[in-house]
Amino acid sequence: MNETRHDLSEVRLMVIGSCSVAVLGLPHILLWLKSRLRLRRIRVVLTPMATRLVTTDSIRRVAGCEVYAGWDDLPADARSHVSLAEWSQVAIVLPATADLVGKMANGIADNLATSTIMALSCPVIVVPSTNATTWAKPAVRRNVRQLRADGFTVVEPVQGLAVAGDTSEPGSMGDYRPALLQALVRAAGGEPHDQQRIEAENMGDCHVRK
Ligand SMILES: Cc1cc2nc3c(=O)[nH]c(=O)nc-3n(C[C@H](O)[C@H](O)[C@H](O)COP(=O)(O)O)c2cc1C
Repeated sequence: MNETRHDLSEVRLMVIGSCSVAVLGLPHILLWLKSRLRLRRIRVVLTPMATRLVTTDSIRRVAGCEVYAGWDDLPADARSHVSLAEWSQVAIVLPATADLVGKMANGIADNLATSTIMALSCPVIVVPSTNATTWAKPAVRRNVRQLRADGFTVVEPVQGLAVAGDTSEPGSMGDYRPALLQALVRAAGGEPHDQQRIEAENMGDCHVRK
């Protein structure tokens, strides 16, 4: 992997994690991001399902990040998910299950994680993590296309060990880090991003015609 060092120490990063098997690696990925990009301010929101695979405590202890999984966990300075979203300068949805990709593509906000995503106005990078069969499903393809049309950056799953078997396939356990790094450095660069542009265009539809 390219070892160029980047300094994102001034960037406030929001990480939303969902219940893919890849969430088991989230504490280490967060540590890696901190050392690789000098990120100091990272907040993590987990879906309720994700807490069945990884604990908020393990992320806090290993990566030293603030972690929230439910409405009762909101920090003192955040009145709601909107405050968390406004705090964020860049967001990564990592890992993103097929379920979460579907919710995002359809504007569903039914827990703290999905509501925070809905309220974000910063660039959002989505790192889907599914097995190859799920990734190929027409519904998942449609949802991924919709995310891209809505201006999200989607990092494709890459080749890795299949969890159900000892074969290799594009899926949950591939090494997405080079593509993520590239997307993150670009997103943190401060240029207007696709979501802003698409949302501004759509705002035109909301104006009342006189
Ligand atoms: C051990 C385990 C591993 C899973 N891995 C994946 C996965 O890699 N990708 C995926 O899309 N779903 C996976 N699932 C299924 C999701 O957890 C399930 O769809 C869940 O409803 C997702 O909830 P969330 O999106 O709110 O986190 C897994 C489930 C379990 C129990």
